[in-house]
Amino acid sequence: MPSVVLAYSGGLDTSVAIRWIKEKYDLDVIALTIDVGNDRDLPAIAERARKIGAIKALVVDGRADFVRYFVWPALQAGAIYEGQYPLATALARPLIARLLVEVARAEGAVAVAHGCTGKGNDQVRFDVSVNTLAPDLKIIAPVREWSMTRDNEIAYAAEHSIPIPVTNASPYSVDQNLWGRSVECGILEDPWSEPPEEVYEWTASPDTDDTLEPTYVEITFEHGIPVALNGEAVEGVPLVETLNRLAGKYGVGRIDHIENRLVGIKSREVYEAPAAVTLLTAHQALESMTLSRDQARFKEIVSAEYARLIYNGQWYSALHQDLAAYVQSTQRFVSGVIRMKLSHGHCAVVGRKSEHSLYSHSLATYDTGDQFDHNAALGFIKLWGLPLRTQAQTQLLPSVGFEGNLLDSGKTMS
Ligand code: ARG
Repeated sequence: MPSVVLAYSGGLDTSVAIRWIKEKYDLDVIALTIDVGNDRDLPAIAERARKIGAIKALVVDGRADFVRYFVWPALQAGAIYEGQYPLATALARPLIARLLVEVARAEGAVAVAHGCTGKGNDQVRFDVSVNTLAPDLKIIAPVREWSMTRDNEIAYAAEHSIPIPVTNASPYSVDQNLWGRSVECGILEDPWSEPPEEVYEWTASPDTDDTLEPTYVEITFEHGIPVALNGEAVEGVPLVETLNRLAGKYGVGRIDHIENRLVGIKSREVYEAPAAVTLLTAHQALESMTLSRDQARFKEIVSAEYARLIYNGQWYSALHQDLAAYVQSTQRFVSGVIRMKLSHGHCAVVGRKSEHSLYSHSLATYDTGDQFDHNAALGFIKLWGLPLRTQAQTQLLPSVGFEGNLLDSGKTMS
C-alpha cells in the first residue's frame, strides 16, 4: 500500500491524524518525530504512534542540525520578526519539511502530512518548503481538512481506541524548540489581559525572587557564532541549553506582543526565548564594535528582510541564498567576547572586546592622549551643513513647523 510520512508530535491532533489519514486516504502512515529540543519522551511517542496504527515510527535527533543550519545563520543575520520575535517556531519548520521529504524519498512514500490548522503560518512554511523541495509529493493536512473541534477529536479518539496523550486540558497551544517557546490561545487571545504566570515554563518571574544576585556570563563569538561560555568551549546545542537555563532563571526573554501573521490576521503571541534574547543582544553588541557605521546601517535592512523571509516560509528561496551570502560576508570580523550581566528580567551588555574592534580609544577619549583632530571638525561641519544652509536661504526652511518665535508664547522666565 502507498504510504505517507506524517510529522508526528505525539499530541492529540497528530494522534487522531494517524487513524484519520488511513481511513480517509487509504495510505499507510509512517510517523516521523523530530527532536528539535522540545523535551519530550520520544520512545513513548514512537510507541504511541505504532499503537495507533503507524506502520513505522521514526525518531530523528535534529538538534545539532537545527542549531548549525538554522539557528546560527539566523543569529548571524540578527533575524527578529517585527522587532520582537526571535523566530523559534518559524526556524524549525524548514528543517522538519526537509526531513519529511528525505524520509518520504527513503521510504518511497507518495505524500507527507502535518498537523497544522488552516489559520496559521506553519501550514504555509511546511507546504511552501515541501512544494519547493519535492513538487511531486502530495501534502495532507488533516486538521485543515477535517472540521473537528477539540471535543470531536477526543470523541473520535475514544471511538477508535486511540490512546490520547495524558492531557492536562491546557487551554494553550504551545510549540517549543531550542531557540524558544511559543504560546498562543486561551486567555492570551484577549490582548488586554496580562499573561498569567502559568503560560511561562522556561523563565522565572522577574519580580518574584529579589534575593537572586545578578550574574555575569562571557560569550565568545567566532565569525558571529558563539563558541564558548566563560572562556570554555561549548558545542552549539549545550551552549543554547545552558543559556536557556541560566537566563531563564533571571526571567530574561519573555516577549508578549501582537504579531502580523502571513495569512493576514493579527495574533497575540507570548514567547520565552532566554538564550535567543541573550545571544541576539550579545551578537548585536559585538557587531556594533566590529562593523562600520555603513555596514551596520545596511545590515539592519538585511536583518529585517531576513526575518521576514524566515517568518513567511521562504527559507528555500533564492532571496535567502543571496541574503545569506551577504550575511556571511558581514561576519568575517565579528569575533570577540561580550560580557553580559543578567538580573531580574534583563540582560545587559556590560563589556566587549575584539581583536578586530573598530573602537579606538585615542580617537574617543576626552582625556590626555586624544588624537582626534578637533580643528578638522570645523571644515567638516561647514561642508556637512552646506546643503542645509543653501536650502534654508532659498526656501525659508527654518520657519517650517513654528508660528513666530517660541519666546513669543509667554514662557520667558524673568
Ligand atoms: N506565531 C508564531 C509563528 O508563527 C508561533 C506559532 C506557534 N505555533 C503553535 N503551534 N503554537 O512562528
